[in-house]
Amino acid sequence: MEPIALAVIGGTGVYKLAALDDVQTHDVETIYGAPSGPVRVGLLNGQRVAFLARHGEGHSIPPHKINYRANLAALKQLGATRVLALNTVGGITDNFGPRVLACPDQLIDYTWGRISTLSEEAGSEVLHVDFGHPYTPSFRAKVLAAAKAKGVVMQDGGCYGATQGPRLETNAEIARMRRDGCDLVGMTGMPEAGLARELGLEYACLAIVANWAAGCGEAEEITMAEVLANVEAASAGLPTLVGELAKG
Ligand code: HPA
Repeated sequence: MEPIALAVIGGTGVYKLAALDDVQTHDVETIYGAPSGPVRVGLLNGQRVAFLARHGEGHSIPPHKINYRANLAALKQLGATRVLALNTVGGITDNFGPRVLACPDQLIDYTWGRISTLSEEAGSEVLHVDFGHPYTPSFRAKVLAAAKAKGVVMQDGGCYGATQGPRLETNAEIARMRRDGCDLVGMTGMPEAGLARELGLEYACLAIVANWAAGCGEAEEITMAEVLANVEAASAGLPTLVGELAKG
């Protein structure tokens, strides 16, 4: 199997990597079941890059129904060793307003009822992986360096709070998350990051801020139209960034 230089998981509003050439489609089956959709493998800067849409290419799978284990296992089966997770998020603290790109370095997990470990099945090995630094520090450094090299402005650090969804949060929930130290809120950061660690994959999050989280901005209401418009605007530099990251 030819190695894959980089795997990218797209979140809300990012359903394909248009910059990929010579795309091959893989319908992968894993011991955890089927991933969210086909894995598209193509060339970017001469490097093999894999792409998977986390919610499915038609955004049909809600955050709590995503088979996170199958998604990561499928990428690993195809030869990926490092995963760049694109996560559409709400911004909580001042530096994380709409259209900001951020590479968080911490997370807090508020999700519940999701299969969050490879140790789920009776008889499987019981894993207690270190998770003090939930995103692979050396890979995060490469993401930040690639952004710098390509002039893509990116916040270095921040704490991602993973909520259950699919509804957005109450103002009080976000106020609590702010007190807890969260800068960003999203629905898909966990269990994905923990599973990547269990699978031995390098993993970093590239958070795309789509809106101010509940009660943080001026808006009366958060709409999907606002979310999608901001993701599209903030994603302009992504192909260049991914291409640079795939190089090394
Ligand atoms: N909360 C949770 N997830 C999100 C948000 C939000 O405000 N915006 C985009 N994804």
